[in-house]
Amino acid sequence: MKNICGLFFAGLIIAVIYSCSSDSNSATTDALADPMKNRGIGPVSSVSTGTLDHTLAATGKSIFESKCTACHKIEVKHVGPALNGVTERRTPEWIMNMILNPTEMTQKDPIAKDLLATYMAPMANQNLTQDEARAVLEFFRSNDNN
Ligand code: HEC
Repeated sequence: MKNICGLFFAGLIIAVIYSCSSDSNSATTDALADPMKNRGIGPVSSVSTGTLDHTLAATGKSIFESKCTACHKIEVKHVGPALNGVTERRTPEWIMNMILNPTEMTQKDPIAKDLLATYMAPMANQNLTQDEARAVLEFFRSNDNN
């Protein structure tokens, strides 16, 4: 009887551990697989976006033109993807983490990994500050509102 109880409890413990770990794994996988839930990997965990800030967007546009246009165009793909509609296919956090942390993103984030496999060129870290990346995000938002 003692043995059977022991086996039962061991089985129960294994079942509990297994179900907990598989739950959390599937939750993570879902979040990463749905691009509008995936926040990416990097310093930005939460961004609040409200009414469009035109001044910030203008700052972002000039940062974009000086630091990003070597590889990106808005309308057509270049070294990297066209950035039209980027705020409709990615979360604000993902976009900022891609700008601030492209190397880790293309190594670990499933969407960024796929992009690297497609474009075959690594996105360069342009060493923007978090405020500058936020301004570029505002420029993308203003572009996508048009
Ligand atoms: C050296 C070229 C290069 C530079 C400079 C560069 N990028 Fe990229 N970017 C890429 C490539 C290539 C990709 C696709 C991922 C990869 O291959 O690493 C990419 C991907 C992206 C993505 C994801 C696009 C999507 O469709 O999801 C965003 C957003 C982005 N870049 C923004 C920027 C911004 C903003 C700057 C300027 C601060 C910048 N990039 C500078 C090459 C570059």
